[in-house]
Amino acid sequence: MLKDYIVPRHLGIIMDGNGRWAKKRGLLRINGHKEGMLVLKRTVESCKNLGVDFLTVYAFSTENWKRPKLEVSFLLNLLKYYINSELDYLKENNVSLRFIGSRIGLDKKIISMMEMIEKETSNGTEMIFSIAFNYGGRMEISDSVKEIALMVKNGNLLPEDINEDLITNHLYTKNIPDPDLIIRTSGEFRISNFLLWQSAYSEYYITDILWPEFNEEELVKAFKVFSARNRRFGGI
Ligand code: FPP
Repeated sequence: MLKDYIVPRHLGIIMDGNGRWAKKRGLLRINGHKEGMLVLKRTVESCKNLGVDFLTVYAFSTENWKRPKLEVSFLLNLLKYYINSELDYLKENNVSLRFIGSRIGLDKKIISMMEMIEKETSNGTEMIFSIAFNYGGRMEISDSVKEIALMVKNGNLLPEDINEDLITNHLYTKNIPDPDLIIRTSGEFRISNFLLWQSAYSEYYITDILWPEFNEEELVKAFKVFSARNRRFGGI
């Protein structure tokens, strides 16, 4: 069937509202995250079926360590569960999964699971799916700058040759185009340190729907709004 909307090439999602969803139902916050993980699985399928080429979701920020210990360890375990339960689906459906963010502070087991699924799915060409985990946009930019400074220090680069492309090519997202659309659920009007550099010209779509209530119908709604936007990239 011919689509009456444009599908963004790169979609970013800030999956917010798990805690509020759980609270509304008299449940613990962790139940919201569990439900959010199931919604993430379905959203990956929808994006792949609708023709999204790059999907990047925000699962755990560098600031999320401030949450209660129990919630943090639940989220870490949820990632392990997700990796184990999605490996076959991602491989069979040609989806390549990668993680963006810092590995510092993560335990050995989780890092080896991340590396395993990245390797196992690395041939996937249908969609590049990135999970931002232990991710912060400011940290990503400063890590990029650190790598570049080292090149200058070692005599491999002149300061006058530092430009936007060079910084872009040292971000965790190197080889991935900038996001066209970023969806944020739960009605908050904030970037929250997500893809700061890359979202310079991204369109934002904010919905009041809480992440565990998100579905394909809401996704298509966002795509329709995106299709009607006039992207000028600073031009007229
Ligand atoms: C924000 O909601 C959500 C998170 C910090 C976690 C996102 C995680 C998932 C959607 C589950 C999938 C995760 C993995 C590891 C694959 P919030 O807790 O800030 O909600 P609130 O603003 O209502 O409190």
